[in-house]
Amino acid sequence: MTDPHAKIVILTGAGISAESGIETFRAEDGLWAQHRVEDVATPEGFMRDPELVVNFYNARRAQLPEVAPNAAHRALAHLETHHRGEVIVITQNVDDLHERGGSQSVYHMHGELNSALCAACENRWPAPMVMAPGDPCPRCAAPAARPDIVWFGEMPYEMDTLFAHLGQADVFAAIGTSGNVYPAAGFVAEARRAGAHTIEFNLEPSAVGNQFQEHRTGPASRTVSDWVLSIIGRQ
Ligand code: OAD
Repeated sequence: MTDPHAKIVILTGAGISAESGIETFRAEDGLWAQHRVEDVATPEGFMRDPELVVNFYNARRAQLPEVAPNAAHRALAHLETHHRGEVIVITQNVDDLHERGGSQSVYHMHGELNSALCAACENRWPAPMVMAPGDPCPRCAAPAARPDIVWFGEMPYEMDTLFAHLGQADVFAAIGTSGNVYPAAGFVAEARRAGAHTIEFNLEPSAVGNQFQEHRTGPASRTVSDWVLSIIGRQ
């Protein structure tokens, strides 16, 4: 039974967008089976072959207009609107499906496809559909535009704020994430230290699945919608 004023902190991963048609990373035929992480998702890979990296994210960005939020994204937006306590979504996803599903409080800890970043002055601006290596920064004019994506070896965004939210969580839910990538994989431990009730939503137990007190197994479109109904239905 969830307290009507509970603070709910939700971590999402690629699995919540899978039913919208976006590939996950670690499935047998997922993105990391088709591309080498060190080529397309590291600063070193970008230095070696910026065109390959920019084109990889151009292809991901081009998918966005062709996909739509699914019932799980919409259910989280519904939760945020109707739950009396605070609801925070922390996503590792770089798509925009939470926002298009209606969520307002969304932290993109691994960056966003729709954002460009200047490697020289850290300015951010809306990414054009097709970025090219050496695109100039609209603020400082340096030819240093890059996708605003957190690569392996870089620090995820807003960690202080995220840990502050985790430290206040009454409920922590992880949805569709394999628990392989830190610091996100360590959030469950942090939330438990804060006394939160922890729930994992996945098709199978994740790499940190044994740290959760409750498991809801199945496709997120169903399990997350059921969970939200069970909370909102009583309020
Ligand atoms: P993964 O591809 O590692 O894991 C996706 C998880 O979603 C798996 O545990 C699946 O079992 C689960 N899943 C798949 N379909 C699902 C469904 N319909 N309902 C519920 N669960 C489902 O993706 P992430 O954990 O998000 O980082 O990966 C974390 C980070 O690793 C990504 O943000 C990315 C990647 O490398 C960077 O690029 C920096």
